[in-house]
Amino acid sequence: MKTDDIRQAFLEFFKSKEHKIVQSDSLVPMDDPTLLFTGAGMNQFKEKFLGWNVTYKRAASSQKCLRTGDLENVGGTSGHHTFFEMLGNFSFGDYFKKEAILWAWEFLTYNLRLKGENLWVSVYKDDDEAYDIWKDVIKVPKEKIIKFGEKENFWPSEAPTKGPCGPCGPCSELFYDYGKDAGCKNQTCAPACDCGRFVEIWNLVFTQFDRQADSSLKPLPSKNIDTGMGLERLASVMQGVKTNFEIDIFKPLAGEIQKMARLTTGRSGQAWQGTSANAIADHIRAVTFAVSDGVMPSKKSAATW
Ligand code: GLY
Repeated sequence: MKTDDIRQAFLEFFKSKEHKIVQSDSLVPMDDPTLLFTGAGMNQFKEKFLGWNVTYKRAASSQKCLRTGDLENVGGTSGHHTFFEMLGNFSFGDYFKKEAILWAWEFLTYNLRLKGENLWVSVYKDDDEAYDIWKDVIKVPKEKIIKFGEKENFWPSEAPTKGPCGPCGPCSELFYDYGKDAGCKNQTCAPACDCGRFVEIWNLVFTQFDRQADSSLKPLPSKNIDTGMGLERLASVMQGVKTNFEIDIFKPLAGEIQKMARLTTGRSGQAWQGTSANAIADHIRAVTFAVSDGVMPSKKSAATW
């Protein structure tokens, strides 16, 4: 399935569940002094999570994102990017955990036809409600439901202890399992292992708190849903390739860079060649989308402007 078709299928699925399809926001958020770049689908809906200006209660989008925090990893791993698209569905005081989980499962296993047996899930350690929905309603076997702490299963990660302030909540993630023969091949391999057997595809955030400067978690006026699914990573699963750089929208770009830089006959090994071309392909996409959203490159640092 092509990346463009996956994006379309996602938006149509949530449209059929009465979500308003909202255009991607700019990579440079207009009215948010706390953010340099848009890094998640929920950014443009922050005020709705706080209960302000809630003109619709359900939304879905494919958001352009730029994350500079992963810069050093790009090209060296199968799925880190600076620029990527994030598919997301959102509820502002409307549906909550049960519908979010049911619809995520329905979209992946019915619309995309991923096998349920290849999916594992994680929940926040204290979130018995999400755990029970996965176990009793979706019927995921107990051994495939993992409990993690606030680093892995709270969004933003570690928000209760480290911040930032603002809307946050426990989350539940879905992982695709490439099977026992993939990665480390260890019998005990599970989603916490970073060998590549498991790839996280979807994060369902149950946004119910407004984190305060004193670290307290103030309940939001209403309970919300914020989900995030990396389009390029989902495409790699759907297209049966091991890295995001091999999907239909990346491969021609990375291939052309290899050709232009003559990396195919270069002096270094294949892994190095792939890594460099992939990193350049990622950065070209990031720069292109950033410039088209009004960012002006300069060799001067911002401080000297
Ligand atoms: N806002 C959810 C995520 O980025 O995973």
